Amino acid sequence: MNEAATSRSIGVCYYPEQWPQNTWEPDAARMAELGISVVRVGEFAWSQLEPARGDFRFDWLERSIDILAAAGHSVVMCTPTTAPPKWLVDEMPDMLPVGADGRQRQFGSRRHYCFSHQGYRRECARITRALAEKFGSHQAVTTWQTDNEYGCHETTLSYSTAARDGFRQWLAARYGTVEELNERWGNRFWSMEYPSFDAVELPHNPVAQFSPIHVLDFRRYSSDQVVAFNRIQVDILRELSPGRDIVHNFMGRILSFDHFDVGGDLDISSWDAYPLGKLIDRTRSTQERQRRFMRAGEPDFQAFHHDLYRATSKGRWWIMEQQPGPVNWAPFNPAPRDGMVRLWGLEAFAHGAETVSYFRWRQARHAQEQMHAGLMRPDGVEAPAADEVRELKSAIDALGWQPTTKADVAIIFDYPSQWAWEIQPHGTDFDYFDLNFTIYRALRGLGLSVDIVSSRDPDLAGRKLAVVAGLFCWNEALVDALRDFDGQVLIGPRSGSKTQDFAIPEAMPPDLPEDLLDITVTRVESIRGDCPIPVEGGGSFRTWHEFVEVGEKANITAKTADGNPAVVSQANVSYWCGWPDEELRDRLINQAANEAGIATHTLPDGVRLRRCGDHLFVFNYADEEFDLGDLLPDAEPILGETMLKPSGVTVFNIKP
Ligand code: GAL
Repeated sequence: MNEAATSRSIGVCYYPEQWPQNTWEPDAARMAELGISVVRVGEFAWSQLEPARGDFRFDWLERSIDILAAAGHSVVMCTPTTAPPKWLVDEMPDMLPVGADGRQRQFGSRRHYCFSHQGYRRECARITRALAEKFGSHQAVTTWQTDNEYGCHETTLSYSTAARDGFRQWLAARYGTVEELNERWGNRFWSMEYPSFDAVELPHNPVAQFSPIHVLDFRRYSSDQVVAFNRIQVDILRELSPGRDIVHNFMGRILSFDHFDVGGDLDISSWDAYPLGKLIDRTRSTQERQRRFMRAGEPDFQAFHHDLYRATSKGRWWIMEQQPGPVNWAPFNPAPRDGMVRLWGLEAFAHGAETVSYFRWRQARHAQEQMHAGLMRPDGVEAPAADEVRELKSAIDALGWQPTTKADVAIIFDYPSQWAWEIQPHGTDFDYFDLNFTIYRALRGLGLSVDIVSSRDPDLAGRKLAVVAGLFCWNEALVDALRDFDGQVLIGPRSGSKTQDFAIPEAMPPDLPEDLLDITVTRVESIRGDCPIPVEGGGSFRTWHEFVEVGEKANITAKTADGNPAVVSQANVSYWCGWPDEELRDRLINQAANEAGIATHTLPDGVRLRRCGDHLFVFNYADEEFDLGDLLPDAEPILGETMLKPSGVTVFNIKP
């Protein structure tokens, strides 16, 4: 863990091009007065930076970052490639992305480009180079952000001619010969054999379904294009702006490209946290839960992404955009409960964020986001979040920060598994993210800190419990890591049920060697949510159920009410033969934590813990207060109170 991981700072997203120049100096001073020291600029400014080809106008940006620097701020300079200007789109209209319906998406908003378009990639390299030549050595520019929110607005997949040509080349590189592709895709089925790579089309507008491997390969290809697109900018920035960190801002529950692959090229991963917007938009919470947490957000959703993105760039991560008030894009856009803006910030810092940066400084008067709050109102008067940012700053100054703690528990996460089960859910409710998120929630409900690790680089050393659920296909590194691991292993349903070629494994699922898990999944069924399969001891399977034959080395440790295996164990490994409902899930997770020797607490709904070095943070998303005296009877808070108020944060020193 490097040194930066123990520093904590507050930032803001700033759009000097949208405001009169005489506001820039007072803005910079007021930012500093709020405790802000990091300012992000430029991600949507291409038309102001280059109003016509080659006519670079960088002076205004230079002036604005000089003003920021003079007020003590460091600058995150963005490449503006998320919003190509109209003159560029008119020069090469085929750079626009094409939707699955075959229709070209149009200019007039943002992210209107196809990742596969080679001409657009060259244009991005050109503007990145020009900006890096101009600002690469500027003392205030400490960080570069590439583009903005890859994948937002469903832009990872494009069905353009550029994508079709790129996909064919990608297939040729992967399979070598078209005969090999036909064989591994199983194209004898339905007479789908191809005479050449150039005969393969993109998988959209089918009559029936496309073959799952055809779609999965297109998803893999599309993810690789995001990586390649990003890498072009990273290489230029490394060459022309040495010593600066490179970051990209990911999003909540956007799973369309492999964030571990993009993160591998970055110094810092960041993500854009909009807890209230996402509660309705992305968490699939029940109506009751959405009402309960309407002004706070889903208590585990932010934390899940903190833990996921921390893993994508080896520990260094930020919040690049934090919601400060009502947003403009969800079905309902409530204001946060008082205190939540401070809580979200402290929670991110407790999970190891180096910087939490607010979106945005001043609420826009014009255009698409005029209904989106900022730290300042459109008239320049402080919005309610401004005071909470001041309070956040005093809290972070009052606490000494240490690197975030390596958690006892790891969830293994894998983007291709998300794609595989989107392609072949086999039951409308089966969703890889949800399966893992629900397990994460159960672990956190027991007061546990959780790390999320990549399936391809699973760091299990020193941990006590590892969870793999819904993993579509094993890889050698993961099987080896599990074999060497002496903690408890939980394997969830559907794991190892396919090969990399999206075929059923010859040995049948879960496709593990007998000495690890001696079982065979002989039949699977997906089931309606209102037709549970009860399991002895309480709770039931919903959504997904497997019939399992148990070999000599394994034991049935729980049965369904009608006598089929529900949980099978072998040494330190347990396998769940279905998707457990809340009651069963909590029981099984509790049992696994006990067997792993991990101390647990049963937390009230909405209260969550995170350990960071010697500090134990307690967060209250609920709107009731809780007495923490029962939870930690002998501990004295070093921040906050033992009686934890709604939106409250209490920090205990737990140094032995
Ligand atoms: C993010 C985006 C910002 C802004 C914000 C509004 O997705 O990066 O530019 O649009 O949402 O909530």
